Amino acid sequence: MDKRRMIETNYTEEDRGIEGSLRPRLMADYVGQAKIKDRLGISIAAAKARKEPLDHILFYGPPGLGKTTLSGIIANEMGVNIKITSGPAIEKPGEMAAILNGLKEGDILFVDEIHRLNKQVEEVLYPAMEDYAIDILIGKGAAAKSIRLDLPRFTLVGATTRAGLLSAPLRDRFGEIHRLEFYTQEELKQIILRSADKLKVETDPEGAMEMARRSRGTPRLANRILKRVRDFAQVRYDGIITKEVADTALNLMDVDRMGLDRVDRGLLLTLIRNFDGGPAGLETLAASIGEDPGTLEDLVEPYLLQNGLLQRTPRGRVATRAAYAHLGLAYAGAEVSEEL
Ligand SMILES: Nc1ncnc2c1ncn2[C@@H]1O[C@H](COP(=O)(O)OP(=O)(O)OP(=O)(O)O)[C@@H](O)[C@H]1O
Ligand SMILES: [Mg+2]
Repeated sequence: MDKRRMIETNYTEEDRGIEGSLRPRLMADYVGQAKIKDRLGISIAAAKARKEPLDHILFYGPPGLGKTTLSGIIANEMGVNIKITSGPAIEKPGEMAAILNGLKEGDILFVDEIHRLNKQVEEVLYPAMEDYAIDILIGKGAAAKSIRLDLPRFTLVGATTRAGLLSAPLRDRFGEIHRLEFYTQEELKQIILRSADKLKVETDPEGAMEMARRSRGTPRLANRILKRVRDFAQVRYDGIITKEVADTALNLMDVDRMGLDRVDRGLLLTLIRNFDGGPAGLETLAASIGEDPGTLEDLVEPYLLQNGLLQRTPRGRVATRAAYAHLGLAYAGAEVSEEL
């Protein structure tokens, strides 16, 4: 299973060329996530009226749903600078202190993959977030003393795909926590049409809908699929993306009608064939399809769970009736009810 997946929702080299140009800069161009936009809109207006920095914000949710994009939009709407870094990029407390010290009043510090900050670095953030200050230790041994350095009032925006891995003290210091949701097909269609327009690709509404249906609720994937289907349309057709073109191209890429690829289907098939539909534990299942359990849990399962193809029960994963139907198999399992 080491071949890269077409439907990989993580950022890949292929996305570099298009993501920058397609990324919305204004709240008005950011499609979907209505609840989050509403709440952020209020926070931004209130902070601006009070001439205060925004409260610290945490975004979590699967990759490619627009956490980084939203952070850039917030900075734009607030009219402040954004400094971008990530959990694994900061190794020492001193590095974090230096970054914080370099911020200006109202600036946003965006920390991607914030769950991967190490403990000592994270501890620098506690007083910084709470009191806009850092404590610096001067001298050694008995003569050592801690002095407090004031920071400009800044906003920390954290993003993570795994909110569960965030420590409680860090999580509690965020004033707002937003969970990003998968996008509806209608929303993805809108994103695709807007991107097609920017890329100057002619796409009819049914073509856009077909791509939306197969984008796993994820804008990053929608844009990547558009780019691939565009190439296909140019080489094999007259360049216009119709339903037929999108359908043929996606079939060729082995992305099925629901947006599942061979990894997803492999998981469901293994569950059905080797475990009678389940329940099977995550580790066992991962081992039998040769995937890493973390990858399964973060990148494969969410979409299957969301679409009712898979159930997560205390005794393990279970393939649902819908999974059998999707794979064209006769239902043989016993569906486990949620309250088990
Ligand atoms: N709401 C949206 N409307 C329009 N386009 C969007 C939206 N959200 C995301 N996109 C597009 O999807 C791409 C991926 O989004 P983004 O990089 O913000 O995702 P992310 O959640 O930060 O992912 P990761 O977890 O991998 O960091 C962006 O380049 C942008 O073009
Ligand atoms: Mg991101």
